Amino acid sequence: MLQVEHLCKSFGGVQATRDVSLNFPAGSLTAIIGPNGAGKTTFFNLISGQLRPDAGRVVFDGEDMVGLSSLDVVRRGMARAFQVAALFPSLTVREALTAAVTAHQRRSWSLLSRFPLAQSRARVDEILDLLGLAPKAELLSRTLSHGDQKLLDIGLALAMRPKVLLLDEPTAGMGPDERWRMIEKVHHLWRAQSLTVIFIEHDMDIVFKFAEAVHVLKYGAVLAQGTPAEIRRNQDVIDAYLGTDHHLAVAEG
Ligand SMILES: Nc1ncnc2c1ncn2[C@@H]1O[C@H](COP(=O)(O)OP(=O)(O)OP(=O)(O)O)[C@@H](O)[C@H]1O
Ligand SMILES: [Mg+2]
Repeated sequence: MLQVEHLCKSFGGVQATRDVSLNFPAGSLTAIIGPNGAGKTTFFNLISGQLRPDAGRVVFDGEDMVGLSSLDVVRRGMARAFQVAALFPSLTVREALTAAVTAHQRRSWSLLSRFPLAQSRARVDEILDLLGLAPKAELLSRTLSHGDQKLLDIGLALAMRPKVLLLDEPTAGMGPDERWRMIEKVHHLWRAQSLTVIFIEHDMDIVFKFAEAVHVLKYGAVLAQGTPAEIRRNQDVIDAYLGTDHHLAVAEG
């Protein structure tokens, strides 16, 4: 459903993305891993329309996304969790989600829907439940913990009713317990919403436990792809991380 073919991007002399071809089947949960500077975030920027590739195609549901604005990519159903919760410090969690859901509905439903308000309320409640944020719905965004702000960012992306959700290091900056809680919520909403989820992650315990497929980037190119079990014993991957144990000693981003 999402196919990336021969994607290339350079910044001056730096080839951040080198002939990357990858497939993401509908409903899959895929981790992208790789050392710092491997081109993971650039890959997200290319497929979500933030950056234009020098060459290659990004085919989503049969349509080439290259050249579309990031807003048009979102409209086609590919959303990304940005650090936007911080932009609404004086809105409550519910107000921020309602604003996002309403904005989305206004674009896509206004002439079709007779009860937009009731629908947006139901969708906001659904998102609050999915992310476990219901008990915090009436809190101001700025008073949320770092982890809850990240959940709200994911909630704001879900307001766009995406088919594909891109998460760039959803567990970054969290302690071990909080990390597991976060990824369990991502896993839950992936299941509950039949989403295609692609997440960039440095924590190999999390990657190997949760991902169905793992794509490894190094120096902008695809070093390996496979199931967690295949990646764990792939000698190229082990060498790339300079580690020989099963957890692959990874520098934190
Ligand atoms: N806008 C940009 N302008 C110039 N160089 C860039 C730009 N974005 C990325 N790069 C370079 O491209 C390479 C890949 O960067 P990218 O941020 O994609 O890596 P990453 O895998 O996400 O790393 P990290 O794990 O540290 O987040 C790096 O060498 C980076 O310096
Ligand atoms: Mg990055």
